[in-house]
Amino acid sequence: MVRKALKVTFAGAIGLLALVVAVGSTGTAAEDKTVDTSTIMKKSFKDKNNYSAAVKAAAKDGKWEDATKLAKEWAALGAALGKNKPNKGEAKGWEEQCAKFVDTTKAIVKACEDKDAKAVNKSAGAFNCAGCHKAHR
Ligand code: HEC
Repeated sequence: MVRKALKVTFAGAIGLLALVVAVGSTGTAAEDKTVDTSTIMKKSFKDKNNYSAAVKAAAKDGKWEDATKLAKEWAALGAALGKNKPNKGEAKGWEEQCAKFVDTTKAIVKACEDKDAKAVNKSAGAFNCAGCHKAHR
């Protein structure tokens, strides 16, 4: 029993480590680590192989395993957004925008799991870039 529990914990630790490595460049392996907003934006939309482009490309090619894996990484990254403070604007509005960001990435995960390329593109187009930037960037 104890050994099994230990194994599970170990697997959890590896999973967390993999996530931390996937999420990236800043911070430590603490469970509540933060990733700054600029990094999240770059990894989501700007870097070469950004999540948005990579997920859409994988979906287009019918590589659903890759697409789903990437989308899940992206959703985990997006969940870190709300731990940051916005550069400007009200905390409540920021919270709502961050929650929408997370919902959008979750919809993309679901679309990948459903192997629905149209839904992937539709969801990936649902981020409120201008709305959030105007209020909080
Ligand atoms: C939840 C709010 C929010 C949403 C939604 C959002 N952004 Fe951002 N974005 C920000 C904030 C805040 C910054 C400023 C980060 C900083 O402090 O440098 C930013 C910065 C950026 C940057 C500059 C990153 C850098 O430092 O080089 C890019 C590029 C960007 N966003 C692209 C996008 C695109 C494209 C979308 C929509 C597909 C989007 N963002 C949606 C909040 C958001």
